[in-house]
Amino acid sequence: MSKLIINGPTRLNGEVCIQGAKNSVLPILAATILCNGKSTIHNCPKLSDVNNSLNILRYLGCKCSFKNNIAVIDSETLHCCVVPDSLMLKMRSSIIFLGAILGRCGSAVITSPGGCELGPRPIDLHISALKRMGAAVHEGYGRIEFNAPNGLKGTTINLSFASVGATENIILAAVTAKGTTVIHNAAKEPEICDMVRFLNSCGAKIYGGGTDTITINGVKGISGCSHTIIPDRIVAATYMAATAVTGGEILLKNVEPEHLTTISSVFCEAGCELKCFEGNIYFKAPERLKNVSMIRTAVYPGFPTDAGPLVLTMLALARGTSVMVENIFQNRFRYVDELRRFGANIRIEGKIAIVEGVSSFSAAPCKCTDLRGGAALVVAAVAAKGTTVISDIHHIKRGYENIDTTLAMLGANINEV
Ligand code: EPZ
Repeated sequence: MSKLIINGPTRLNGEVCIQGAKNSVLPILAATILCNGKSTIHNCPKLSDVNNSLNILRYLGCKCSFKNNIAVIDSETLHCCVVPDSLMLKMRSSIIFLGAILGRCGSAVITSPGGCELGPRPIDLHISALKRMGAAVHEGYGRIEFNAPNGLKGTTINLSFASVGATENIILAAVTAKGTTVIHNAAKEPEICDMVRFLNSCGAKIYGGGTDTITINGVKGISGCSHTIIPDRIVAATYMAATAVTGGEILLKNVEPEHLTTISSVFCEAGCELKCFEGNIYFKAPERLKNVSMIRTAVYPGFPTDAGPLVLTMLALARGTSVMVENIFQNRFRYVDELRRFGANIRIEGKIAIVEGVSSFSAAPCKCTDLRGGAALVVAAVAAKGTTVISDIHHIKRGYENIDTTLAMLGANINEV
């Protein structure tokens, strides 16, 4: 298994172009299942989760190609509605294929997604919504079967929690359902807006994307289209955090500043200077970072749970005490044990992390616990004195395109072996 070797500390300087958003491209790749024809996805990041998604599409009978960050999917020849265990278990977020397969084929069979590194990943909101749209659901032997032989029908769905995945699955199932579906308390993440834009370009009739009430008027079918994925706001936060902990100065290109407002305000409170202009952000770290007294993770537009590990790592090197409350995932703090190896002084009490800033980190062997927790270790390592060896980096490859060469271009001493 490959590892990352990082020698620090190194002050990061230079320009970084931010990749397309993983959590936008995954639901959009699933959405191509509904299209009668070819879709071309630009700014598609080269990630293992994207590769796994393309393999699921190929298994279902779609023709897929991926080159130079452009994915082309032709779903004309789709002939299967069963996502195999081997592919489903490789990527927890493959649950997002459910709504599209059910909408296209009238039936779908998936493996119960089970848990992941972040804790249990229930899908009760997905199942109850699809049942309300007329699907019969049978669970057993680790698989879940959905059947809607007469097609799905539009209805009103009140989500008890603004779940990103459930909102996406309901939209995908509703695109070709009979009648109108209204989702109340829908998730408002930018990645959902991107998927809605893609679907409407293909001929869907979806209104209210980005608000908490989304209306979908069912249509007979949709075509393919050409679409460019929005930039990844969490990847942008990652390079900001790596710059913040090394006293560096970078220019982030191809970003959407309005997707980063709550993240940017935390970096500003920690003493960083940010200037946003025409899809770029100029970012400069202070000599010494300041604490941020309280951060609470929340659904969009609140502070995103995925940015938590990166920002907590930065605050572990700030002057003073910071507190982070994680309100989304049960096991989000698993990476903190690994951070402590660098000398971080962090106390976890349930869903609360209390950080006493230290003046510096020293290098330590460590291993990734999950995608964003792994990225947090990279942030810690570029600031740490000495040579850090990070293992289990397959977690990082799920969501970061070339994190080693990107950081090396900013001056970091980093190699994958
Ligand atoms: C999406 O996951 C993202 N994944 C996550 O990023 C992100 O952290 C999360 O949204 C929150 O923003 C993708 O978009 C592929 P949720 P998702 O449904 O859809 C509970 C990454 O690696 N819940 O909003 O799974 C659930 O247990 C990932 O980039 C139910 O209880 O998130 C969790 O506590 C990590 N029942 C909370 O809601 C359900 O039916 C958030 O889940 C569904 C969810």
